[in-house]
Amino acid sequence: MGVKQKVIEGFQKIFGEKPAILVRAPGRVNLIGEHTDYNDGFVLPMAINRAAWIALRPRDDRRLQIYSLDYQETAEFSLDDLHKGEGWVEYIKGVANELNFARLQVKGWDGVLGGDVPNGAGLSSSAAVEMAAARAFAAVSGFNWEPARMAQIGQRAENHWVGVNCGIMDQMASAAAQAGHALFLDCRSLEYEQVPLPNEVVVVVMDTSTRRGLVDSAYNERRAQCEAAANFFGVPALRDVSLEEFQAKRDELKNTVMRRARHVITENQRVLDAVAAMRAGDSQILGHLFNESHASLRDDFEVTNEALNQIVAAAQRQSACYGARMTGAGFGGCAVALVEREKADAFISAASKEYRRHSGLEALFYISQAAEGAGLVAQ
Ligand code: GLA
Repeated sequence: MGVKQKVIEGFQKIFGEKPAILVRAPGRVNLIGEHTDYNDGFVLPMAINRAAWIALRPRDDRRLQIYSLDYQETAEFSLDDLHKGEGWVEYIKGVANELNFARLQVKGWDGVLGGDVPNGAGLSSSAAVEMAAARAFAAVSGFNWEPARMAQIGQRAENHWVGVNCGIMDQMASAAAQAGHALFLDCRSLEYEQVPLPNEVVVVVMDTSTRRGLVDSAYNERRAQCEAAANFFGVPALRDVSLEEFQAKRDELKNTVMRRARHVITENQRVLDAVAAMRAGDSQILGHLFNESHASLRDDFEVTNEALNQIVAAAQRQSACYGARMTGAGFGGCAVALVEREKADAFISAASKEYRRHSGLEALFYISQAAEGAGLVAQ
């Protein structure tokens, strides 16, 4: 049974009637533009066909009652009396808190939450839950779905309530993506364009099955190094430094900070080049940019682990693969490959065998269509 059916049936069992509303918000895979979002730069994620779902009905008061299918527990709270706690419901409370703060008149609801975005794999399961919750609030409260505004609400919930210092990419991808397209996003202005994926390729998400703790502290350290580099150049963010300016002054920077900045500055350019390649339907160039991005994340930004390097190398060795790279924050989780559509199945069996041989680990591969962003779904 799909997740859609599960949340509908779960709702019927708990609340004794059909849900009035059904919402869905997807996870994402980033095609290129890694660790650029918090540098006011460019990213090119796409929504995947794995999502968080909520079946719900509006309430007359400002209370919420939500059952999680994954955790098999109910959480209840009042929108007028929010307190921090622990666990899955904090993402929803955080969104509620930010909606209150934005003075949107939100109403309460009863709902059942389910999903199939794996946790901790770098596919933004938390952004999916945040955007599903925001979509639910919008539906019961009657305010418009403005993707960029809702993504900012989700990001603030994550930053201020959950305590994760993420950028805007994941929530924007979940809120604003369009089926069949990648989302080319300027993380400074939040302007975006939908860019169609070349027809002859599929996007293969490759989960190394490794997870690393302490990602937060390493992530915050990278952010601080990027800020130090921007300060050195006297600009608000590394987005404002051209490659020429960087080359002219790079020797004055400490080696580590220099390499962090070089990754961000070259990666921003790779996103622009990738968008041009996609528009020209040039999968060769696009794949080549994936490979360069991975090398830069491995050598300059240093956010890969052994498993990510092994799975990317295993993918790159297959003739059907145009290019591959780690995706998301790094240190474990997933990589992404651009693969000839006709040969995708053969690619998966060869690359997974090779990865197993080198790492001794079992990977999970998903061929992912570019899915639609957060929305209401007919039952
Ligand atoms: C995580 C964060 C994003 C982004 C990526 C790295 O997914 O949530 O905001 O910074 O890492 O590109």
